[in-house]
Amino acid sequence: VEKAPGIELYFQSRCPQVTDLTVYYAEDKHREQTYREMASRVIDSALKKRPVAFAVYGHPTIYAYPPFLVREMAAQLGLKVKILPGISAMDCLFADLAIDPSVNGIQMFEATDILLRRHQLNSSAATLVWQIGSVCTALYSTTVSTPSRFFGFRDYLLSFYPGDHKVYSYFANPHPMLKAEIHEFTVEELPEFAEILHAAVTLYIPPAKIIREFDSDIAEVLADTNHLRANTRRHKVASGST
Ligand SMILES: C[S@@+](CC[C@H](N)C(=O)[O-])C[C@H]1O[C@@H](n2cnc3c(N)ncnc32)[C@H](O)[C@@H]1O
Repeated sequence: VEKAPGIELYFQSRCPQVTDLTVYYAEDKHREQTYREMASRVIDSALKKRPVAFAVYGHPTIYAYPPFLVREMAAQLGLKVKILPGISAMDCLFADLAIDPSVNGIQMFEATDILLRRHQLNSSAATLVWQIGSVCTALYSTTVSTPSRFFGFRDYLLSFYPGDHKVYSYFANPHPMLKAEIHEFTVEELPEFAEILHAAVTLYIPPAKIIREFDSDIAEVLADTNHLRANTRRHKVASGST
């Protein structure tokens, strides 16, 4: 796990004591074991002296298990937990690739989970694939993947997309002044990019076919004031009031 440059100094300037939990990661160790150890350490610290803050990269409830473990353990011990939002890799990806997920809709899956549960991909919507670089392992590893790792994943994508469909690997640089690493290649070529598909990369798959046929009943009423009036009350929404 690559720590954001200067992050420890920053935390030290804000907290009386900073504990680096990345020491629990180890090569070939089951990631769930690491996450349990991290969560236990957070709870131990809270039992000794409160309050404590558990800082994770990105958003704490997006593809992140330790915050949920902390929450569960804390509930059993009667400790209070407040989860605050963070900027996810997904937010950075939307900005760097200039994507508005509202345009065609978006679906997202974890790479291994796609294969494990044979998720049906909707090729009319955009797709985010998390943890592509860790596909088919629950173990922590910093080693470089070989093309064979991605053969099964590529073949599965080929059941939804044409081989020449363009996809993008995305890595937001943890340093705010450095550029994101973006590579464009086709579904067919995915295994050839094994070396750059490391554990912190997200795969973006644009839609392959855009839906252009509209439901005529819905399309007709979109700019129809009578339809709007018939389905609303006269007064305005008072935001913030009950
Ligand atoms: C355990 S999840 C953590 C996600 C994190 N909670 C977030 O909101 O960004 C790890 C996965 O997040 C994505 N990820 C993490 N850091 C990233 C980065 N710097 N750029 C692109 N994707 C990243 C990758 O898909 C990676 O495999």
